[in-house]
Amino acid sequence: MRILFIGDIVGSPGRLAIEENIVKLKEKYHPHIIIANGENAAGGRGINEKIVKQFFQWGINVITLGNHTWDQKAIFDFIDDYKNLIRPANFPEGTPGNGYTMIHFNNFKLAVINLQGRTYLPPLECPFKTVDMLIEKIKKETVNIIVDFHAEATSEKQALAWYLDGRVSAVIGTHTHVQTGDERILPNGTAYITDVGMVGPYDGILGMKKEAVIDKFLTQLPNRFEVDKSSKWQLNSVIIDINLVTGKAEKIERIRIDPDHPLW
Ligand SMILES: [Fe+2]
Ligand SMILES: [Fe+2]
Repeated sequence: MRILFIGDIVGSPGRLAIEENIVKLKEKYHPHIIIANGENAAGGRGINEKIVKQFFQWGINVITLGNHTWDQKAIFDFIDDYKNLIRPANFPEGTPGNGYTMIHFNNFKLAVINLQGRTYLPPLECPFKTVDMLIEKIKKETVNIIVDFHAEATSEKQALAWYLDGRVSAVIGTHTHVQTGDERILPNGTAYITDVGMVGPYDGILGMKKEAVIDKFLTQLPNRFEVDKSSKWQLNSVIIDINLVTGKAEKIERIRIDPDHPLW
């Protein structure tokens, strides 16, 4: 099975980049399942129902979230209506929404788990212990498990990947919006990358207008960041090939498309 995993889609430039490229990506890579992180899809902050529907319509099978999950207040009205829209599983018990989902493909199942790190992010439940509990439950149904680990610290991401090596098919990092070049398959068959990178403005700072971000560093005054709509797009993602019988990853390949790295 081939999975296309797309990193944080930021605002309208990110959505446009997906709309413009999704068919070309499908034609070139032939993914069976597409997973995308949508925590910044609505103006850089959260996601709304219209965008959720649009993403599913474009062929994205699972939308994951992160620390921006609740930024659009309307999400409380619809998060429980979409099984394949998931938020970090280690949010406190009783939080709306689900932390993982199960996709059916031919006679196989694929579980997608969303987790959030705790280093430089809010103190959630332990992602390590949460994923242990989820794997115990999921392994009765499938060995094919993809984890979106939405975290800031590279060490926390590497630690989770090594902790899960051989128990999940892939640990894919999101949240930093900058793609890392460390994709590999760990010794026991878990594909790993510290961060997939984002989809959206190329010349902004993590997708936001650079002037406001620079100003914030210079003045330390509160400042409202807005999505940069002036520059060309970048699209970062990875392809992961999984052996559905063993659940082991066979390949992980980075995709980086931007004005300096054109693919078409
Ligand atoms: Fe993000
Ligand atoms: Fe994030």
